[in-house]
Amino acid sequence: MKNLPYLEVRKRYIDFFQRNNHKEIPSAPLVPEDDPSVLFVNAGMFPLIPFLKGELHPKGTRLTNSQRCLRTGDIDEVGDEFHLTTFEMLGNWSLNDYFKKEAINLSVSFFVEELGFDINRIYASVFEGYEDIPEDNISISVWKEIFEKYGIDARVGQGEKIQKYGKKENWWGLESGGPCGPDSEIFYDTGKPTCGPNCHINCNCGKYVEIGNNVFMEYFKDGEKIKSLGRHNVDFGGGLDRIVALLQNVDSVYDSDIHAPIFEEVKKISKVTNLESQRIITDHIKAATWIIMDGITPSRNQQGYILRRLIRRAIRHGRKLGIEGYFTKQIAEICIKQFSPIWIGLEEQKEHILQTIEEEEIKFNRTLDNGLRELEKIADNDFDGKKAFQIYETYGLPLELTEEILKEKGIELKNINLFWEAEKAHQEKSRTSSAGLFKGGLADTSEMSTKYHTATHLLLASLRKVLGDHIYQKGSNITAERLRLDFPNNEKLTEEQLKLVENLVNDAIENKLEISFEEVSKDEALQKVPFAAFSEKYGDIVKLYYVGEKEKPFSMEICNGPHVKNTSELGKFKIIKQENVASGIKRIKAILE
Ligand code: ALA
Repeated sequence: MKNLPYLEVRKRYIDFFQRNNHKEIPSAPLVPEDDPSVLFVNAGMFPLIPFLKGELHPKGTRLTNSQRCLRTGDIDEVGDEFHLTTFEMLGNWSLNDYFKKEAINLSVSFFVEELGFDINRIYASVFEGYEDIPEDNISISVWKEIFEKYGIDARVGQGEKIQKYGKKENWWGLESGGPCGPDSEIFYDTGKPTCGPNCHINCNCGKYVEIGNNVFMEYFKDGEKIKSLGRHNVDFGGGLDRIVALLQNVDSVYDSDIHAPIFEEVKKISKVTNLESQRIITDHIKAATWIIMDGITPSRNQQGYILRRLIRRAIRHGRKLGIEGYFTKQIAEICIKQFSPIWIGLEEQKEHILQTIEEEEIKFNRTLDNGLRELEKIADNDFDGKKAFQIYETYGLPLELTEEILKEKGIELKNINLFWEAEKAHQEKSRTSSAGLFKGGLADTSEMSTKYHTATHLLLASLRKVLGDHIYQKGSNITAERLRLDFPNNEKLTEEQLKLVENLVNDAIENKLEISFEEVSKDEALQKVPFAAFSEKYGDIVKLYYVGEKEKPFSMEICNGPHVKNTSELGKFKIIKQENVASGIKRIKAILE
């Protein structure tokens, strides 16, 4: 195997697929732009969902990139050799272009020819079939052919080169639904001893590591139903961090050149050796820098809460390691330096990122001491979710920390439900009068997000009318309950300006404007919409969306939709909050009533 620096592995992957007629697309931000179904982009395919469903991608039918991802479900697993919350996923996609044979051959060529992985140590898993969906015998024959080419007589079965699994292991799609299908994973034998006669490639003992996965997306999950998608897509994903750890022959993902400079610094400032805590700090502070770069600040909700939890958990592990004084900024500085070559936003927003992390640390330290003291006082065998909520409410001690501390004391946290109930009651009480609007079962998520998507166009156009041409969309985030738009403006908007913007949007709604689009060349579009953000993500032909008459539109933007047909569908628009998110960047949150 070739011991290559990670930047080289990343580059070789993209170059390899470009040579095989794929077009590189940029990594999307960690926070999904318009899709509320997940808090963070958790797989390379996520930003491509509309195109996997059939929308034409401006860059064609073969795409590749390295996408930054965050998996919140893995937070508690971090601390072992291979888990990370933020990581990069190498991806290549066929949008109704090539299928199983070419996909598997491309993956194997990349691993074996480009990176020098030993084919004798490569294993494959394939889908064994489930209910109406048949066994994936095409992938089986593709794999047999490949192994044969290398002089290996591959068989199917336990302990063999090709192993079959069911839906749990070899079916991939997002929980929330959408494009999905059987997959074929690629494993590498680390050479560690087997854990016993029943060891197999999906066994957790660490002998086999998954290095890539080809998902054959020809199905669509709609609720509980699996239907045909009517297209044959390929979604390949490979964890860069794991691949690099294998190539560099190190013990864990923290010891490769991706994380080593950060990990070493954490070790240097630790007074006690505890690999688990040191890995947690490395992972969590790195994740925090990426999340803040993508426009999130610590808060009590959604992405902001995850960010807060990551920073706070790192701080608590810092205490465990006997680290003295404030330390998160020092570690974050190394994270920024380490990943600036791939995410330029880290350097651009350096001051904001460092300040945000440090402020959170100062805030948390202040309350942590008080909270811990209180917890020591009241921790007893009758400790339940309600008490945990009181401590959270008063001292900001997150539930997870309370749980961890109690666990260390051998105390069981009873009735955790009481925490969620208390939290819900609290939220309902403190919610503005505008919330709760959707209790009447107004609409489903996708319908609401479509509305918010269109309302965002109206808001941007109105901001430009009121504040001037320097306004463009710096970031957008939509849930079923609100829209959020970030834009550059030095001053906060005055009450009067906010009212003006709100009125302009509501006028556009009352005027029942039609929404339409046309496909034009990128150059033509950029001439008409010079303020389009992220113009590099568009291909040669783009969609230009108009709100109102094309000759004199209220709003005109380059966009991929989805949109309502007429602004009258939107209801009443209301700005609920204005925030300062970074120096020179303002944020508006608004709802539709
Ligand atoms: N989307 C697929 C995965 O995450 C490739 O495994």
